[in-house]
Amino acid sequence: METVVEITDLTYLYPTGNKALDNLNLSVLQGERVAVVGPNGAGKSTLILHLNGILNGAGQIKVMGIGMEKGNLPKIRQKVGIVFQDPDHQLFSPTVFDDVAFGPINMGLSEEDVNKRVSEALEKVGLAGFEERLPHRMSFGEKRRVCIASVLSMSPEILVLDEPSSSLDPRSRRELINLLNSFKITQIIATHDLEMALELCKRVVVMDKGTVVADGDIKVILGKEDLMLRHGLEVPHSIRFTHFHTHDHDEKREEHCHAHCHPHPEMHEHKERI
Ligand SMILES: Nc1ncnc2c1ncn2[C@@H]1O[C@H](COP(=O)(O)OP(=O)(O)OP(=O)(O)O)[C@@H](O)[C@H]1O
Ligand SMILES: [Mg+2]
Repeated sequence: METVVEITDLTYLYPTGNKALDNLNLSVLQGERVAVVGPNGAGKSTLILHLNGILNGAGQIKVMGIGMEKGNLPKIRQKVGIVFQDPDHQLFSPTVFDDVAFGPINMGLSEEDVNKRVSEALEKVGLAGFEERLPHRMSFGEKRRVCIASVLSMSPEILVLDEPSSSLDPRSRRELINLLNSFKITQIIATHDLEMALELCKRVVVMDKGTVVADGDIKVILGKEDLMLRHGLEVPHSIRFTHFHTHDHDEKREEHCHAHCHPHPEMHEHKERI
């Protein structure tokens, strides 16, 4: 499969001298959905800001084979859509329409195409008909969805989201998970919501101190208690309490492996996964 993001030896120091990325290497394949996790200050957001050239560290970044150089930024920014953690950093227009139309207008599309892109993007995030609403008078969850629409309207090839589920209520979080699950494009999702990551992603990248400390199968890596604790994380509940046990189904007795709530009619031993 094609590599769509290739990062080699990326190091970035903020002007304060703070080394936020330290020799980071990462490749993402087309169509992959990758969770990026790690403690506060690990460098997740700093990494994301490099994916469309907002920050420019030392090292090499290629997006779909295109080098991250000044002249290539307009092309790369059409391919990589970033949803920032704070909607107020992303939404700057007086109306929802203007925010979602900003990208398509910049791409030089006709008025008709712009309108189409805006209504399609709003429809996808469940905000059909919200064009004339004022973003600053919307709820946090609605603003987050406007941000996603403002990125989707550019039809990106790679969707990058920084803490997309933070501050969402359970229903909005569930809608977000369903929405992201419905997208077939490559996704890179930085999050502290490990249960969401487990639902959405097969692969996880664990970052700490500006570098990748683990990369691979999400269920295996998030189940490693030592590794998780070492990097300020915890084994998620659904992995910790996943265990084999038997159920009686009519006449049949079957063994299952899953997490489940208690009390449970069948008594069985619980063991933490090793
Ligand atoms: N504008 C800035 N100026 C100086 N240092 C910064 C700036 N932004 C972030 N940092 C530092 O860079 C490091 C990485 O921060 P970053 O925001 O990328 O972490 P993060 O993994 O996204 O954390 P969180 O989980 O809290 O969002 C931290 O040490 C942070 O203090
Ligand atoms: Mg962050």
